[in-house]
Amino acid sequence: MSSIKVVGGEQLKGEVKIQGSKNAALPILAATILNKGINRLCNCPKILDVFHMIKILEDLGCKTLWEGDTLVVDTSSPISTIVSEDYVRKMRCSILFLGALLGRCKEVTIAYPGGCSIGDRPIDYHLDAFKKMNVLLDEEEGSNLIRCKATCILGSDIFLKSPSVGATQNIILAAVRSNGVTRIFNAAREPEVSELCNYLIAAGAKIIGTGSDRLEVEGVSYLHDVSFTLSPDRIVAGTYMTAIATAHGEAILRDAPWWQLESVIAVLRRVGCNIETTKDYLKICSYKKLNAINLIKTQPYPGFPTDMQSQIMTVLCLADGKSTIVENIFESRFQNSEELKKMGAEIVIETEEKRAIIRGVDQLYGTIVEAHDLRGGAALVTAGLAANGTTLICNSNYVERGYEDICRDLSYLGAKIGYYSESILYLGA
Ligand code: UD1
Repeated sequence: MSSIKVVGGEQLKGEVKIQGSKNAALPILAATILNKGINRLCNCPKILDVFHMIKILEDLGCKTLWEGDTLVVDTSSPISTIVSEDYVRKMRCSILFLGALLGRCKEVTIAYPGGCSIGDRPIDYHLDAFKKMNVLLDEEEGSNLIRCKATCILGSDIFLKSPSVGATQNIILAAVRSNGVTRIFNAAREPEVSELCNYLIAAGAKIIGTGSDRLEVEGVSYLHDVSFTLSPDRIVAGTYMTAIATAHGEAILRDAPWWQLESVIAVLRRVGCNIETTKDYLKICSYKKLNAINLIKTQPYPGFPTDMQSQIMTVLCLADGKSTIVENIFESRFQNSEELKKMGAEIVIETEEKRAIIRGVDQLYGTIVEAHDLRGGAALVTAGLAANGTTLICNSNYVERGYEDICRDLSYLGAKIGYYSESILYLGA
């Protein structure tokens, strides 16, 4: 198990470039199998979750090659229709191979993903939609496997009970090479859904309504080779904004997709940060005692993202007064509050109300804490930057699932941070 060591108390200053988007890369990697050809994905982040998706692609029979920060995926050879259970257990997002393999082979066997550390994450919307699209599902009793088969996938009208990102993406993947038109109502509007649509359109798919909650996918018989540049990661940019807010200082976040971060920017401005945006970068300054925020609710895009909830909780731990966060998407994300409390934070969780009440303190203190999930781990790193003394964040491999090199990036800004493995301490780049 790897750890990250942070010596707190340094004001941050400098410039850092924001990596390519994890949540855009993962569904697009699943989508590459739809075109039986060459896919060039530029600005692809080198993170554990991407390496994991590459393993699945190779296991299915595809070839991959890195050329700098471009990942080339050759999906032209015949591929397997079985996704190994080990992979689905390790990474929930591998469930997107369900739609992609159905789209290409009309057949797939995959393990049921089950829950994960941020909460119960069912796939009922995905499976209900596939059933409507003429896919036969065989969920053997006592077995963890789902077998799906269709003689022909039929375009259908799908109404999502809530705008699930994964379900919207999986339906798109199954629909792109189906017969007829699929209309998705109450579709997720997250930028990563638009990114998947844009990649597929570049490969020859017919999709209308990108960015809206009503998508229309007209099936085509084939897709072609494609080269596509992935957007920068809005959650990584948001995380580094919260690092500046808590540790104080100023930074330029080059390529930060600020237009996808409006809700986060609005909250950080209310907290007291000064934020300017230009075409190429976002500049954030934080020098004052932070203001508390009466109420933040996580919501589907363009609302405040659940993926920024843990990081904003760290910020509010140091604000002047009482703040409330309501987590509407993933119930277990508040588990991070137990770790922040070890550092001196004052947080009360009201589970029934899905609510966290945070009373700001003057100082957090360095200690040993444990990451339980990706964003929670990043939030502990930012807490460590502002804390008095040294913080050791154990299980930091969670953080490496989504951040290329958080220690390198934050040390560019002057943080005293490094990977810590027993006797070896690596201090950034
Ligand atoms: C994606 C993101 C994740 C982000 C989340 C919400 C990726 C790889 N992951 O996850 O980082 O936090 O969107 O923005 O892009 N639900 C059901 N039934 C379903 C599907 C979902 O009840 O069949 C519920 C979930 O339990 C959850 C909510 O819908 O409460 C949203 O989940 P969803 O949008 O599907 O999240 P993911 O796609 O898994």
